[in-house]
Amino acid sequence: MQQTAKLTLNDGGTEKTIELPVVTGTENEKAIDIGSLRTQTGYVSLDPAFVNTASTKSAITFLDGEKGILRYRGIPIEVLGEKSTFVETSYLLIYGKLPNRVELSKFSTLLTRHSLIHEDMKRFFDGYPSTAHPMAILSAMVLSLSSFYPEAIDVNNHEQIDITIARLLSKVRTIAAFSYKKSIGQPFAYPQNSLSYCGNFLNMMFSVPAEPYEIDEDIVKVLNLLLILHADHEQNCSTSTVRLVGSARTNLFASIAAGICALWGPLHGGANQEVVEMLEAIHADGGDVQKFVKLAKDKTSNFRLMGFGHRVYKNYDPRARLISSAAEKILTKLGINDPLLEIAKRLEEAALKDPYFVDRRLYPNVDFYSGIIYRAIGFPSNMFTVLFALGRLPGWIAHWKEMMEDPSTKIGRPRQIYTGEVERAYTPLDERA
Ligand code: CMC
Repeated sequence: MQQTAKLTLNDGGTEKTIELPVVTGTENEKAIDIGSLRTQTGYVSLDPAFVNTASTKSAITFLDGEKGILRYRGIPIEVLGEKSTFVETSYLLIYGKLPNRVELSKFSTLLTRHSLIHEDMKRFFDGYPSTAHPMAILSAMVLSLSSFYPEAIDVNNHEQIDITIARLLSKVRTIAAFSYKKSIGQPFAYPQNSLSYCGNFLNMMFSVPAEPYEIDEDIVKVLNLLLILHADHEQNCSTSTVRLVGSARTNLFASIAAGICALWGPLHGGANQEVVEMLEAIHADGGDVQKFVKLAKDKTSNFRLMGFGHRVYKNYDPRARLISSAAEKILTKLGINDPLLEIAKRLEEAALKDPYFVDRRLYPNVDFYSGIIYRAIGFPSNMFTVLFALGRLPGWIAHWKEMMEDPSTKIGRPRQIYTGEVERAYTPLDERA
């Protein structure tokens, strides 16, 4: 029997009860479908920041923030992190199943073939100051891709979709590396078709014409892990942005460019840069973590423990657990003794014992330890959020595609409760106070 919820409204003495259907997901998550609320009652629902609102049904990622579970297409991220590659996980997210050997090889070849950016695009980099934040460049460049591939602007052009997906996954990596090279005044390193997805990226980032660059397979492995762990996180701020922009039937390049902008914010993907800057500040200040825990609790200060807390996780973020142990391993292997890792561990320990963090169920999130690994590999801190964007790409693409393929999709258009002036007269300029 269809479960329902009853809502009784007492409107000026008149009582009205309506019945609303309950929707149940495959993991038994329940929602009250309020789609007919306004038609039946004239009322709308109010839920600022979507704290209680599911904006869509989705079959891509399952997340249980109470239990600390995260699965892509049903497969736990712990398993994917150990056994998969970023390319395979991207296929899984976007196409809904693990690829067989032929499908994987076809997909990888497509990514390899589409790694170059148009030569004219290289000149765009000259227009930016060397101090430009690479997230600003990334978003602008991804949007610019739509001008080189105008056939992707028509979202009904289904034949184009696979090639557009491959172009994005492949070229964003090239754009990211080129923006770094530009910022340090080194020549661009072109993609090499013989290299793996992550090996190619490392080569474009760190090789110079003057000497050979050796790709360290342990670094390739940890980079794959980080990209996999960032690959999707259901309806987060940037993914919801991509869906909202895409719901206007906006092309994939433009929708992803908007997602990149949303990700840049320090409360979202920008937190990974902020975490390392915070750890550096604690280090420079003598390393007293209690002082910063105290500051984070002080409601008169704007300071928050960056890399801590999450809208959905009220338990340890499973991604943070995997990243923290990967950080220990790769730093040991590279022989790096980064004082920031030790500070991060002490900060975590202090916060997790503090009643403020315990009561609010604030735990380290995905951004807390990732920057320590990126630093060890050699990425500057302003590239950290770009790496998050590279990782999140398949998730954004999968959500855009899922939405476009759903015949029930409508343009996203929230309502509001107006709290401004009621109708009033226009006062001529010379009569105004
Ligand atoms: N440090 C200190 N206090 C915090 C923190 C923090 N990092 N996070 C939350 N709180 C407090 C907050 O002040 C509030 O306290 P009170 O109940 O006294 O008003 C309570 O905890 C609930 O926080 P909220 O801001 O209402 O929670 P939210 O769900 O709106 O925000 C968040 C989630 C991630 C934006 C927030 O925890 C935060 O600002 N964290 C730091 C930034 C960060 O690490 N962002 C990355 C998020 S994970 C990856 C991603 O999505 O990109």
